[in-house]
Amino acid sequence: MILVVGGAGYIGSHLVKELVKTKEVVVLDNLSTGFETLIDKKAIFIRGDLGDPNILNKIFSQYKIDAVMHFAANSLVGESVQDPYKYYQNNVSATLTLLNTMLKHDVQNFIFSSTAATYGIPDVDIITEETNTHPINPYGRSKLMIEHILEDFSNAYSLNYIVLRYFNAAGAHSSAQIGESHNPETHLIPIILQHLLGERDAISVFGTDYNTPDGTCIRDYIHVTDLASAHILALQALLTGKINTSVFNLGNGTGYSVKEVIETCEEITGVNANIIHTDRRAGDPARLVASSNKIYQELGWKAELDLQSIIASAWEWHKKQLKK
Ligand code: UFG
Repeated sequence: MILVVGGAGYIGSHLVKELVKTKEVVVLDNLSTGFETLIDKKAIFIRGDLGDPNILNKIFSQYKIDAVMHFAANSLVGESVQDPYKYYQNNVSATLTLLNTMLKHDVQNFIFSSTAATYGIPDVDIITEETNTHPINPYGRSKLMIEHILEDFSNAYSLNYIVLRYFNAAGAHSSAQIGESHNPETHLIPIILQHLLGERDAISVFGTDYNTPDGTCIRDYIHVTDLASAHILALQALLTGKINTSVFNLGNGTGYSVKEVIETCEEITGVNANIIHTDRRAGDPARLVASSNKIYQELGWKAELDLQSIIASAWEWHKKQLKK
């Protein structure tokens, strides 16, 4: 049985939908940012906090958990600059409680959702796992702290772990049953699509004076379905002992500027956007683009879906939300 912490969230729920096809799954989620409706019905759902040792002790006593997959984090760069305590409390302190409790119950396998934000402002165009990590915001720092803790716990307590550093997750499940839904929404692609559906008056482009060809930030957008398949492979590698500890980037390897993403959304939807240029948002690096060569070499994973597929799937999901 696999414990998915944060399985009601955007990325966690997409993973659960795949995972239930082959494994028994328990989801622990406090629904602070997730939605119960996103959780696949085949999973057992327990509402609770990952930092609550009582709930964790109950779960680890009641079920034979082979691995924990941890998606339950606050993940907004801008918010983390405004409210760092929230990020160190939820992302670091609560995760320590989770790790400590699982180890007490002899659960040794852990998959951790980390982020491109650990790299800060990289000194290379294409980021590998060897690129220096110097996060520039509390969110990135909170994730990197857990990466260090995992390394130390592995040395001291034989914890097996895989860290997956996501670049910009986006898109929706092909069924259009689940998709990206945050409240409030801060992510670029859902904001653009909500605007193109008439739910917002305009899109703000945060900064047009970055050192990039068109002056707007470049990101590597990865389909949430591709992220889910990487997790399934990582889990297999841990459970079969193929890998004991590792860190992998998960991206497409292609960068798109904010302007290019808006243009692609306009092309796919056939609707023109109303764009406002505003100041830079705190904590945003100019360019984050991944090499995912390491996970391709070791586990045979690569992203299958491009920006067009990401936006087209997200568009189907957003249109469906409007009809509800
Ligand atoms: N942006 C705008 N206008 C908006 C929203 C976003 O211009 O209304 C810009 C941002 O400034 C940024 C880009 O669009 O340059 C992407 O922003 P998102 O908020 O969609 O995503 P981030 O790059 O800030 O962060 C996401 C995840 C993080 C993760 C990071 C890794 O939210 O958890 O990707 O690259 F760390």
